[in-house]
Amino acid sequence: MLIISLSVLSNSRSYGAEEEIANFVFGDSNVDVGNNDYIVSLAKANNVPYGIDYGGPTGRFTNGRTIVDILDLAQTLGKFGQSPPYLAPTTKGSVILKGVNYASGGAGILNETGSVFRLYNMGAKKILVTNVGVIGCIPYERKLNLCLGNQCAANPNQLAQSYNVKLKSLLTELNNNLKGSNFVYGDTYGTFNEVIYHYQSYGFENVNSPCCSNNPWDKSGSLLLCSPSASVCCDRSKYAFWDPFHPTEATNMIIAKRLIDGNISYISPINIRQLLNS
Ligand SMILES: *[C@@H]1O[C@H](CO)[C@@H](O)[C@H](O)[C@H]1NC(C)=O
Ligand SMILES: *[C@@H]1O[C@H](CO)[C@@H](O)[C@H](O)[C@H]1NC(C)=O
Repeated sequence: MLIISLSVLSNSRSYGAEEEIANFVFGDSNVDVGNNDYIVSLAKANNVPYGIDYGGPTGRFTNGRTIVDILDLAQTLGKFGQSPPYLAPTTKGSVILKGVNYASGGAGILNETGSVFRLYNMGAKKILVTNVGVIGCIPYERKLNLCLGNQCAANPNQLAQSYNVKLKSLLTELNNNLKGSNFVYGDTYGTFNEVIYHYQSYGFENVNSPCCSNNPWDKSGSLLLCSPSASVCCDRSKYAFWDPFHPTEATNMIIAKRLIDGNISYISPINIRQLLNS
């Protein structure tokens, strides 16, 4: 599962009302707000939440909410609305003026899906691209490689890093070549890495195992996504990972804040607040 998302922010004026922001989202399960509920897929954001609380005591039976929703909801950016899933029957008419979420759990990157130029030609100018996270440190990878003793797997992290270096220079190139474009590079890898290695200073107690485990006899043991029959940890705010693949809301919140207001160590050349005001 790749941790990448691309978010297109567009300012649109409707009926002389205040400036509104339309947020178009592309990516995988980290930003899927329900598209997979409408297709044949095991990776559903419906009753298998991807880590984000919807206010319920455990959030187990609620929809997953993602980093993009948190960005959407950020009080500091009150102009955002939540972008609805593209495949929902209600996503039509004037609803789409506030943006649409095309993300699909399990999505990957193919040359054929390179839709950036089309988006640009259709008028998208403010584009946030987050890099690939510390995928070698997700509980799935730690557990998959038994000989690691629950340590991070080095190889996936190296692959992510070399991908990220190329991604960053690609965005610089796009900024130089596509007139009026504003591609912003969000370093979720760096932020997540910091959380993992200094987890205590972020208030976490566990960064190795998922809060939601399908194997009650071995809390670190589950390679499966969370499900209604799984057991959940007592305090999810103390866990960095919700399931074997996805961060908890607590982790997403840290990343979201960095993307909104962080300095160039986390998001460059400008942060989301500056992007919106640009
Ligand atoms: C994608 O495109 C690049 C550049 O044209 C090429 O080098 C690469 O082999 C392609 N990858 C796939 C999987 O087709
Ligand atoms: C960005 O902020 C972090 C933490 O506040 C700090 O450690 C880092 O040096 C800053 N980076 C730059 C380039 O200012």
